[in-house]
Amino acid sequence: MEAEALLHEREADSDLVRLRVTINGHRHEGKGSKKLTILENIEKMRLPIRSSCRRGRCGSCRVRVLSGELRDNGVRLNEYVLSCSSYLQGDGDILLPY
Ligand code: FES
Repeated sequence: MEAEALLHEREADSDLVRLRVTINGHRHEGKGSKKLTILENIEKMRLPIRSSCRRGRCGSCRVRVLSGELRDNGVRLNEYVLSCSSYLQGDGDILLPY
């Protein structure tokens, strides 16, 4: 493998995060990316998550982050995190409130 391709692969690996998503009492596990919002990562796992504005305004995408560090502490609405506007910095355990 060429050095440039290997470097690109390593950079991609460093963006990977492990996600645990609990919906309606069922836990799902998958891989995500630090470069995607929590909402985008959950959608990529093909899990049903509510959203509407996708700009941090309506609150429909709110989740609870049970564990995991968020970039800039995430965008919050009371005790919830707006998944359309928040990014994980590492592995995360997410609870959908429905
Ligand atoms: S989809 Fe509206 S706040 Fe996230």
